[in-house]
Amino acid sequence: LDNGLALTPAMGWLHWERFMCNINCDTDPHNCISENLYMQMADMMVKDGWKDAGYEYVCIDDCWPATSRDEQGRLQADPKRFPGGMKKLADYVHSKGLKLGIYADVGTKTCAGYPGSLGYYEVDAKTFADWGVDLLKFDGCYMPKWTLLAEGYINMSRALNSTGRSIFYSCEWPLYEWQYTQPNYTAIRQYCNHWRNYADVYDSWTSVKAILDWTANNQDLIVPAAGPGGWNDPDMLILGNFGLSLDQQVTQMALWAIMAAPLFMSNDLRDIDPKSKALLQNRYVIAINQDPLGKQGRRTAEVKNFEVWERLLSGGKLALAVINRQEIGGPRRFPLTLAMLPSWKFCNPQCNVTQILPSYQDMGTQKLTNMTEVPINPTGTVLLVVTPSAADHKLRKK
Ligand code: DGJ
Repeated sequence: LDNGLALTPAMGWLHWERFMCNINCDTDPHNCISENLYMQMADMMVKDGWKDAGYEYVCIDDCWPATSRDEQGRLQADPKRFPGGMKKLADYVHSKGLKLGIYADVGTKTCAGYPGSLGYYEVDAKTFADWGVDLLKFDGCYMPKWTLLAEGYINMSRALNSTGRSIFYSCEWPLYEWQYTQPNYTAIRQYCNHWRNYADVYDSWTSVKAILDWTANNQDLIVPAAGPGGWNDPDMLILGNFGLSLDQQVTQMALWAIMAAPLFMSNDLRDIDPKSKALLQNRYVIAINQDPLGKQGRRTAEVKNFEVWERLLSGGKLALAVINRQEIGGPRRFPLTLAMLPSWKFCNPQCNVTQILPSYQDMGTQKLTNMTEVPINPTGTVLLVVTPSAADHKLRKK
């Protein structure tokens, strides 16, 4: 979507995976969907370096509204859980130098059963703009006919545009169309800043694996759609929760960088493991994710239960991720004889190699023919940046 936003993938925090539809503020005030939750996350984002690392949007998902619209037909926040109202919450988030995201649904109800936007696109877009909202996640539940999905998503895109406020548009249009037909990614890119293609992320390795497999299996279709202004969204980062080992967290981080994915964490920033935090704030990984060339990477080889993924970067560099998909035994050594990789031409005659994950390490100049081996833990990933020495020369001369 050509609205000046999403020139690189968006970064922020989104409540769904971690906090879901917890509306029990009487029994669980600390974790329920209420204005306090977003204010506290905004505080943490500034205090603990998230904002400085590039995380910008604080996003509300399902279950924020009251169960009915007001007398003028406008959506309203649940008065008990959002006593200050949305405008005040937006002001608060803005006062921290951050942006506020909200959630609505293209159909008659949200997935959790709250009022949907069908028949109210203009009204809702205007309400969100009046509140000072900066991003809309638009879900796709309860559309009376699936053939109306495209029209609905397009109309909301136009409605947001006509508010005059700059509002990031996060879609789930292809995800809901896939059940019936192959989505038209040219159209989706034209109207959305990013879009979900596949099932919701869960707090598990099984879920992360399924997302990676789906992405690789459909890369010929979806990778060309991604670029400045619009991105494929493989769903939230779940680092810092309960389900992923440290190696699996490395894998999610590395591959979300290769996939040029929006980086929306869903975790509890008030209580997060320092190692997860370090991974999420790793500036080298974020730099790969945010690379200005804006080309999504892809899976380029499967060898002996290793997967190789590559992403072309600006400045003639290449990011290379190798996942050890064997879930038995100990670390296995992957021979970095780039001659056997699809990128071998890239490092002719040699490359400067930097390991980014699992730890930063300058591996110096490596020749095409006698590269070292890197050990990779089961379900873990090694993320490298390689720069051909020839390109290096050119840069130096300038
Ligand atoms: C389905 C979406 O895919 C999820 O990300 C989340 O927004 C839920 N709906 C909320 O009900």
